[in-house]
Amino acid sequence: MSAGARDADADAEVPVATGLGAPALRVLTEADLPRLAELEELLFAPSAWSLSMLTEELGAQGRWYVGVDAPQGDDTPPRLVAYAGLWFDGDVGQVMTIGVDPAVQRRGLGTVLLEALVARARELGAQAVLLEVRVDNEPALALYRRHGFEVLARRRRYYQPEDVDAFTMGLPLR
Ligand SMILES: CC(C)(COP(=O)(O)OP(=O)(O)OC[C@H]1O[C@@H](n2cnc3c(N)ncnc32)[C@H](O)[C@@H]1OP(=O)(O)O)[C@@H](O)C(=O)NCCC(=O)NCCS
Repeated sequence: MSAGARDADADAEVPVATGLGAPALRVLTEADLPRLAELEELLFAPSAWSLSMLTEELGAQGRWYVGVDAPQGDDTPPRLVAYAGLWFDGDVGQVMTIGVDPAVQRRGLGTVLLEALVARARELGAQAVLLEVRVDNEPALALYRRHGFEVLARRRRYYQPEDVDAFTMGLPLR
């Protein structure tokens, strides 16, 4: 985790309203890596980040990864069902990833995460938030558009091995 991600405010658990009980947004740690790899595979195969890529990513400079746990039933501890990451390079914030377990999609978790990343980028003084999204990813495009992101460019064959184009989208913050 970046030094910036370790300050007290950033680490505070924040309750979020999602209809999943009272899950809390929290900063992710190395202990989350196995579950993160599982979710990646579920959501992004065949271009999912591997465990080693995730390990590197979580520890890289300027990153802020957060997630939401949801209750699993009486005797099972809550587990991570949604996650997202921001990279602040001193100038702009980049949404590195955002994913919600298919079992709990469309309950507002993507919104909670995206709003948290944008708020964090704003706090850090970012000029804008940028992201890449597959041109055929309708749910994500709808989510980003709803939050004011606009298409800035099309990047040909950005996603491999799928060989699919990406849109670069941006949200100006100042
Ligand atoms: C994109 C994603 C993160 C959205 O998460 P989510 O928790 O389901 O999103 P929310 O419930 O907050 O939905 C917010 C809005 O996004 C849009 N949206 C979300 N899922 C949608 C879908 N399947 N179809 C159309 N619009 C959708 C809607 O506008 C929705 O608002 P509404 O439910 O009031 O209509 C989730 O679908 C996901 O994890 N997808 C796979 C991974 C991925 O593609 N990540 C993005 C990489 S760029």
